Amino acid sequence: MLTQLLPAQVVAVEATTAPVDAMLFPEEERQIRNAVDKRRDEYTTVRWCARRAMAEMGLPAAPVLPGLRGAPQWAPSVVGSMTHCAGYRAAALAHSSDISAIGIDAEPNEPLPEGVLEAIGLPQEVRWVRHYLRAIPGVAWDRLLFSMKESVYKTWFPLTGREMDFEDALITVDPALGTFHARLLLGPAERMEGDPRSFTGRWSAENGVLVSAIAVAAEVPAQRNAPHQVLVGSVGQIS
Ligand SMILES: CC(C)(COP(=O)(O)OP(=O)(O)OC[C@H]1O[C@@H](n2cnc3c(N)ncnc32)[C@H](O)[C@@H]1OP(=O)(O)O)[C@@H](O)C(=O)NCCC(=O)NCCS
Repeated sequence: MLTQLLPAQVVAVEATTAPVDAMLFPEEERQIRNAVDKRRDEYTTVRWCARRAMAEMGLPAAPVLPGLRGAPQWAPSVVGSMTHCAGYRAAALAHSSDISAIGIDAEPNEPLPEGVLEAIGLPQEVRWVRHYLRAIPGVAWDRLLFSMKESVYKTWFPLTGREMDFEDALITVDPALGTFHARLLLGPAERMEGDPRSFTGRWSAENGVLVSAIAVAAEVPAQRNAPHQVLVGSVGQIS
């Protein structure tokens, strides 16, 4: 599912059950020693996914520890993102020479609790969510909006080291193409030179799980001042 949402330069690994050969490094064990079983399971399985991706990229297995604000810390030449929800865990990694940031998020394909849509959505977003809930059943469009905002945050934070709020990104979606666009609404006072102004991503709704994913192409030196280019994935490509 995730592979189809990301460009070929990204290695994506998913798990829907707990792998028997999943292990943790001692420093990861220390992080999780007081966690309940559910947290231990998702923490361990998503790191199994990350290490499968490292192996596919020719990298040695390494611990994945939380850094600033919980963002996963990768080797200097690696970017990545991880997500877990009921019945689904995934990691997506790439070489930083190809991709400058990745954000992935999975959510159950179920409506948000009462009142949450209005809390996380801008008025324009609430309008398209309500429209698609009526027009295209089978997708929890409110939860999908939430997932897209989480993917935006997971892309933005490692790139900039700065927080953003739900109202700082205006999401539009293309149901037919399976894409979405996030316009970042930070004002001039909150923006820094070189900050991305928008992200484009892809999404899917399969097997009861909503997944959204963003990958930002690395800038090549000659294009330092060009806008952030976004790579769009194509079916079945994992390198
Ligand atoms: C951090 C956050 C994005 C995690 O998303 P989630 O849907 O709750 O949980 P997921 O299972 O999908 O993702 C969890 C993983 O996200 C990653 N993560 C945590 N903090 C992160 C950060 N600051 N930046 C990037 N990735 C982060 C971690 O790898 C974590 O897994 P781990 O704890 O096992 O290492 C979310 O809890 C949060 O704080 N959101 C508020 C900010 C926000 O979304 N703003 C919207 C801006 S438009």
